[in-house]
Amino acid sequence: MDTNLAESSSGPLTETPQEISRRRFFEKLSIALVGLCSAIVGVPLVGFIVAPFFRKMPEKWVTLGKPDDFQIGKTVAVTVTDPSSLPWAGVTAKSGVWLRRVSQDSFIAFSANCTHLGCPVRWLEGADLFMCPCHGGVYYSDGNVAAGPPPLPLFRYDVRIANGEVQMKQAIVPISTTL
Ligand code: FES
Repeated sequence: MDTNLAESSSGPLTETPQEISRRRFFEKLSIALVGLCSAIVGVPLVGFIVAPFFRKMPEKWVTLGKPDDFQIGKTVAVTVTDPSSLPWAGVTAKSGVWLRRVSQDSFIAFSANCTHLGCPVRWLEGADLFMCPCHGGVYYSDGNVAAGPPPLPLFRYDVRIANGEVQMKQAIVPISTTL
């Protein structure tokens, strides 16, 4: 009976030392190649995801309109596009501010995001209050907290009039992350 034929049909019963070392070599080579491929794909991917968290907010002034677009004593919503947003941000790059014209040449720009968990606040003209619909946060007209869970007053952006335009300086709005 051909013993080689018997071994090949049911697998080799024993391996020579050379076969064992060759198999181990290929096992290690496979693991190294998998690690290398993972690094080639993974490192740029992780960098792509993490990099935006370490980007500094560029010092940019955003135009809100001409002074005469706004009535003295009124608080209105203005949509702004974040100039530091990533190209694929789409509508998420848009946010809002509440702009109040205090006098001829004085404006206040409040963040539209509640300092509790970031929900958009609404200005209630009749009540003279900002209200947050999410958890009942209430702010006075100057942005200070009147009631509810917000830990901080509404954030105020720096505002200036330059080149005949009302402009606000982009900033990272502080928002609490605790309930
Ligand atoms: S997010 Fe405004 S009160 Fe919670």
